[in-house]
Amino acid sequence: MLQTLLRGRVLTFHREPAGAEDTDAYSYIEDGALLLEAGQIVATGGYDDIAPRATGAEVIDHRPHLLMPGFIDTHIHFPQLQIVASWGSQLLEWLNGYTFPAEAQYGDAQHARAMAGRFCDLLTDHGTTTAVAFCSSHKGSAEALFSEAHSRDMRMIAGKTLMDRNAPDEVLDTPQSGYDDSVALIEAWHGQGRLSYAITPRFAITSTPAQMETAQALAARYPHCYVQTHLSENQAEIAYTAELYPQARDYLDVYEAYGLLGPRTLLGHAIHLRPREIATIAETQSHPVFCPTSNLFLGSGLFDDAGLRAQGITNAIATDIGAGTSFSMLQTLNEGYKILQLQDQKLHALRAFHWITRGNAHVLGLGDRIGSLDAGTEADIVVLDSRATPAMALRMDRAETLAEELFALQMMGDDRAIVETYVAGNPQKKGRQ
Ligand code: GUN
Ligand code: ZN
Repeated sequence: MLQTLLRGRVLTFHREPAGAEDTDAYSYIEDGALLLEAGQIVATGGYDDIAPRATGAEVIDHRPHLLMPGFIDTHIHFPQLQIVASWGSQLLEWLNGYTFPAEAQYGDAQHARAMAGRFCDLLTDHGTTTAVAFCSSHKGSAEALFSEAHSRDMRMIAGKTLMDRNAPDEVLDTPQSGYDDSVALIEAWHGQGRLSYAITPRFAITSTPAQMETAQALAARYPHCYVQTHLSENQAEIAYTAELYPQARDYLDVYEAYGLLGPRTLLGHAIHLRPREIATIAETQSHPVFCPTSNLFLGSGLFDDAGLRAQGITNAIATDIGAGTSFSMLQTLNEGYKILQLQDQKLHALRAFHWITRGNAHVLGLGDRIGSLDAGTEADIVVLDSRATPAMALRMDRAETLAEELFALQMMGDDRAIVETYVAGNPQKKGRQ
């Protein structure tokens, strides 16, 4: 069997680091190597230990760059890749003015297929090897994304958006069609290769109670699927939700009443929460998703990472393209650091890189497959150049520790710092040159 040996500085996490001194939380090997075979990492260690086991392997020398697990983006909108940086509004006006018209185009399966290729290219160009994606409400948009990811052997979690009101007709489904299309997609794609399905009610405003019932039926029928939605991003959204669901105790209660909470549920944004909602998120082990560049772009508010963690909640982190302004998980960490600074909270570089790799993998229940460089896991790997730009190189001249290097990458890095991205052992950048 064909083997590949990657040589470079290897960094992978075993648990969340408490800080720079918590060296037991990670392995860092200065002259390290990863042996890949059939899409898996079969050995990780020092180059001198691994190389003798790899006679006949193709050797790719990435020194002096860093080899890390591929990044995981836990909340992104596939049909919004062309509306990043749409000017001037907050959430509800932004949805009506830019988002729904852009998503309407995905009723054209040819457009969806063309964009699916661009979307996967953009992810891997930015070092992201797994994404959890909202598709449009059209079945064909989810088919296009699943098919594209499958052809690349890329781990992808996605779902057709359920939305049956408060949007233009071109992006609306019905409770019945939404249910039927979701069932057909789950049966066709969930568990195929590296694909998983996320049941995707967009948010309370765009789903009638009748549609929420069908989402509940889907979640009950397919408990191995994920559930993704949006929660408490913006005050106008919260007020409108309260009007539409007058019997709900709070926003979260809409999802709770329809049995949509649990360890496989991702709640995008979750910024303006009441104590009861926080307690219920903790109790149900659901996961808030912090979307820093989006929250700043739409002026939505400041995510209380420390407050939620103090209640035993595990947060994910994500780009939320197209309200998010960058596909880069490094830029996401950069803005995340600043949002926490505004609240006198800290995002240490080691915790930051744990978060976008092993941390997000564990949120998805996939820690045994992705998010680390352990032998036996899938060969999704990113190669990082911390001197990618002149400004980064100058900063690195003054960096003395791994933590300093990582912090420079976190604050200054973007797709220019991504030398290569391996998906199931296959180089994505080299492959396209
Ligand atoms: N809430 C409902 N839909 C969306 C969306 O597409 N983007 C964001 N940021 N929030 C939402
Ligand atoms: Zn979103």
